[in-house]
Amino acid sequence: MKKGRISCKRAALLLLAASLLAFATGCGRDPSKETDAQLGLNAQQSAGRQIFQERCAACHYAYSSSGLKGPGLKKLFRKKFLPSGLPANDRFVEQTVVSGRGMMPAQGDALSQQRLDDLMSYLHTL
Ligand code: HEC
Repeated sequence: MKKGRISCKRAALLLLAASLLAFATGCGRDPSKETDAQLGLNAQQSAGRQIFQERCAACHYAYSSSGLKGPGLKKLFRKKFLPSGLPANDRFVEQTVVSGRGMMPAQGDALSQQRLDDLMSYLHTL
C-alpha cells in the first residue's frame, strides 16, 4: 500500500515536470487557434493566411503533418522535399497551386500574382 502511494506521488511529479517542460518549450500550443499577431505574421503573411483559409484549408492543415484531403503542410519549406518528392521550393509549390496536382484543383485563374505572393509568404511561415 505504502509503495503504491509513493509511486503515485512520483507519477504526479513526473507529470508536473513534463507539463512544465511542454509549457516552457511551447509544445502543445495550437498555432491554428492563434491570432496573426500571436504568430508574429506581417501584413503580407496575414493576407496570405486569409487566402489559405479561403482556398486551401478545406483540404490541408497548415500546422499539422496529418493529411486531410491533401497532405498536411506543417514546415512545408523547412523540409527538403514536398510530399510528391519534388524539392520544397517556391517554384514547385507555386506550380502546384497554379496548375494543380493529382486530385488538387488548379487555382491559377482564381489568384492574382499579388494574392499568390501573399499566399507564398504565409506558406513560408509554416
Ligand atoms: C480540393 C482539395 C484541395 C485544395 C482546395 C487544395 N489542395 Fe493542395 N493538395 C490536394 C491534394 C489531394 C494533394 C496531393 C496531390 C498529389 O500529389 O496527388 C495536394 C498537394 C499539395 C501540395 C504538395 C505538392 C507536392 O508536390 O507534393 C501543396 C504544397 C499544396 N497542395 C498546397 C496547396 C495550397 C497552398 C492550396 C491553396 C491555394 C491548396 N493546396 C488547395 C488537395 C487540395
